[in-house]
Amino acid sequence: MKILMCRPDYYGIEYEINPWMNVQRPVDHAAAVRQWEGLYKTIQSCGAQVELVAPIKGLPDLVFTANAGLFFQGKIILANFKFKQRQGEVPYFKTWFEQAGFVQLNVPGIDQSHAFFEGAGDALPAGNQLFAGYGFRTEREFYKKANYLDQTQIIYCELVDPYFYHLDTCFCPLNDQQAIWNPAAFSKKSQKNMADHLELFAVNEIEAKRFACNAVVLDKQIIIPTGCPQLTVLLEKLGYTVHACAMDEYIKAGGACKCLTLRVD
Ligand code: ARG
Repeated sequence: MKILMCRPDYYGIEYEINPWMNVQRPVDHAAAVRQWEGLYKTIQSCGAQVELVAPIKGLPDLVFTANAGLFFQGKIILANFKFKQRQGEVPYFKTWFEQAGFVQLNVPGIDQSHAFFEGAGDALPAGNQLFAGYGFRTEREFYKKANYLDQTQIIYCELVDPYFYHLDTCFCPLNDQQAIWNPAAFSKKSQKNMADHLELFAVNEIEAKRFACNAVVLDKQIIIPTGCPQLTVLLEKLGYTVHACAMDEYIKAGGACKCLTLRVD
């Protein structure tokens, strides 16, 4: 398994594009570096290979590689960010994907539908189904226009709570049949739709706000933020080995373990 990450050299809270971010609540840089290194080492210890994209000054959210795009059937579907504060990340991710030899879809100027798409932050595969988050960042229209996606396999997930603005903040498939989620983050219709396709385990409200659902699943190993005891018990019951990583400096920006990673194989 290969995962793309970006060192937090220039990470910080420099603007506010989600309710977690507050420029008056800055990042403790040394702690952010420690937490990132902890996650990086944990991912490697679980047997995954980590690739790195170079950090860029002035792009503090580049650390959240989950939003770079979505790895899909051997290709990369490139992101089209909603906020101009993050749009500058695209060329750097694009170059990295090019140099790594990936065929790219949704390339600006070639086949972009103009609808917003924030990559694996909003689109999460489980088996051959694609759980498609929309409502705050990615637009539903994006999935509709993406003709390379099998429309019959798309499960639409409408996000309704601004604190859970990306799908990966409130939903995480564990395997082809099971997932954890924060049901309150979804519209009633989507709750039902999602429950029709997977066995869903709810996290509690406190742990949801600790980014419990923002987990990195590496087969039977799972990496979650610290402060999620109830989820830990559940995952262990389901046969997972749980690794908890401190993520408080990233929660300040509205992200945690999963947001800092992108699967690229
Ligand atoms: N500050 C970033 C933003 O608002 C955080 C992104 C978190 N990424 C994620 N995949 N949930 O865009």
